[in-house]
Amino acid sequence: MPLHIIAHPLAAHIMTHLRDVTTKPATFRTLCYQLSLLLAIEATEDLPTEDKPIQTPLEPMTGRVLTHQPLVVVPILRAGLGMVQPFLDTFPDVSVGYLGLERNHETAVARNYYCKLPPLAGRRVFLVDPMLATGGSASQAITVAKQHGAVSPQLVCIVAAPEGVAEVERHHPGTVIHVAALDRALNAKKYILPGLGDFGDRLYGT
Ligand code: PRP
Ligand code: URA
Repeated sequence: MPLHIIAHPLAAHIMTHLRDVTTKPATFRTLCYQLSLLLAIEATEDLPTEDKPIQTPLEPMTGRVLTHQPLVVVPILRAGLGMVQPFLDTFPDVSVGYLGLERNHETAVARNYYCKLPPLAGRRVFLVDPMLATGGSASQAITVAKQHGAVSPQLVCIVAAPEGVAEVERHHPGTVIHVAALDRALNAKKYILPGLGDFGDRLYGT
């Protein structure tokens, strides 16, 4: 299973403050931005580049620039919205699709309530959702992305539970997952332990 866990010490530092129950929504949003930026950079480290001859103030040289490859970021509403801006700031030409999935509080089964995606064929697709718990939402999101033409959509998450990683692998073997932390387990209500609680609630103060 291609699971990539960020090793940068700054990621661990930000994670600790995100997890802290005393962190208020305004700070939580800033930390979410910072961590998602690190994840966006990590998730795109294999983007192709090509030669570009330029002139520096002192002499000509050949530099490297990104080869044009259309990127699409798809936040899984609502918590995934908090991870979109770093992608937009780093890759201004990125397209944004939206997928609304909401877990039932009793069953933890996700319901698809909104879908607005651009064509995904031939594009590099990043599904962003901070929490990978049971993996039900992520598996559904990957299925929908594939139905819209995505070939190997990647997941970018902040915290994953082993159960969620296994569920994604079961439904979509080989899916690349980028995370900032792989936590211990789920509790009886399917929340991640130690986790950070309900990400959407903490992001938006609900
Ligand atoms: C959270 C989270 C994921 C999902 C993960 O969303 O943002 O989408 O739960 O859980 P799973 O792996 O068990 O499917 P939630 O359904 O709470 O909706 P929200 O983002 O609107 O708060
Ligand atoms: N969704 C969250 O926001 N947090 C969890 O721990 C699990 C699902």
